[in-house]
Amino acid sequence: MRDLVDKLLKNRILTKEEFIQLISGRTPELSQYLFENARRVREKIYGKDIYIRGLIELTNYCKNDCYYCGIRKSNSNVSRYRLSKEQVLACCRQGYDLGFRTFVLQGGEDPYYHEKRMVDILRTIKQSYPDCAITLSLGENSYQTYAAYREAGADRYLLRHETANPMHYAQLHPDSLTAENRKRCLFDLKRLGFQVGSGFMVGSPYQRAEHLAEDLLFLAELNPHMVGIGPFISHHETPFAKEKNGTLELTLFMLAILRLMFPSLLIPSTTALGTIDPFGREQGILSGANVVMPNLSPLDVREKYMIYDNKIATGLEASEYLDMLKEQMRKIGYEVVVARGDYKQE
Ligand code: 5AD
Repeated sequence: MRDLVDKLLKNRILTKEEFIQLISGRTPELSQYLFENARRVREKIYGKDIYIRGLIELTNYCKNDCYYCGIRKSNSNVSRYRLSKEQVLACCRQGYDLGFRTFVLQGGEDPYYHEKRMVDILRTIKQSYPDCAITLSLGENSYQTYAAYREAGADRYLLRHETANPMHYAQLHPDSLTAENRKRCLFDLKRLGFQVGSGFMVGSPYQRAEHLAEDLLFLAELNPHMVGIGPFISHHETPFAKEKNGTLELTLFMLAILRLMFPSLLIPSTTALGTIDPFGREQGILSGANVVMPNLSPLDVREKYMIYDNKIATGLEASEYLDMLKEQMRKIGYEVVVARGDYKQE
């Protein structure tokens, strides 16, 4: 199996069959070999630097009903909230003072934040913090709306494709959502000059190695700047309440494959990794990730943005949390830096 890792290192791609073989045939020894290579590839481009992004959870209203997600429309037990422009700006101020130079505005698909409202928020953030990058993660939109966001100052956009296989996509989403439109959005975003992030859940219901191989091949086609992956974690108030969670082990393996496929990729060690294992975040970094996204949302809304059970919503002040994070990274030999942390061309 090492020969497949070596081939991936050299060619940065495998065939679907080879990816399936690599994923299904993985062993602890092979994983170690893969992780060592992933760290080496990452360090050649990004050194030991860890980029941080300040996550601002704008709204937990959502018009969609994805079967896996805790803030889906049908979950009537969610206490819904929306942040005002003033609240968002206060989060940015706090984040800036702590050393964040990227703000990520993430939310459910909430029509309250229509194009005009978002453009106003974006312009104000950009005026106040011209040295910062703005990332949006607000779901599917028209080309025109994405263009307006870009023009108003958004630099990056995160939209996970969730699963590239249309049949698997239909097993995770209601009929109103399709893999085709998801992909259309991603290619629109690239065309508009965003740094684009995609990604998928690992261990989602009905997922097989074949689907993961298709995810990797889709990403090779998209050639994104960022890819976020995390284990599926069941939420007790969704149709998938009784489904098994994804594993840390497979998520790390997939993460390291991504690093070998795309040496320059910005890969977050996600909150979901930190949720299924106390050292999940560190292990993500040691498998090739180079980004962490601490939460800058107001403390009282954090527990309301529960997309899966037990999502970390630290009650600590953001600054204390950041000191802790820096220390955790230092302990494993990495360093949190104050920078926009843009994609580096090789
Ligand atoms: N478990 C893990 N990840 C989830 N997401 C949504 N619900 C869950 C869940 N139950 C992920 C999706 C989405 C991102 C914001 O969070 O991939 O794109």
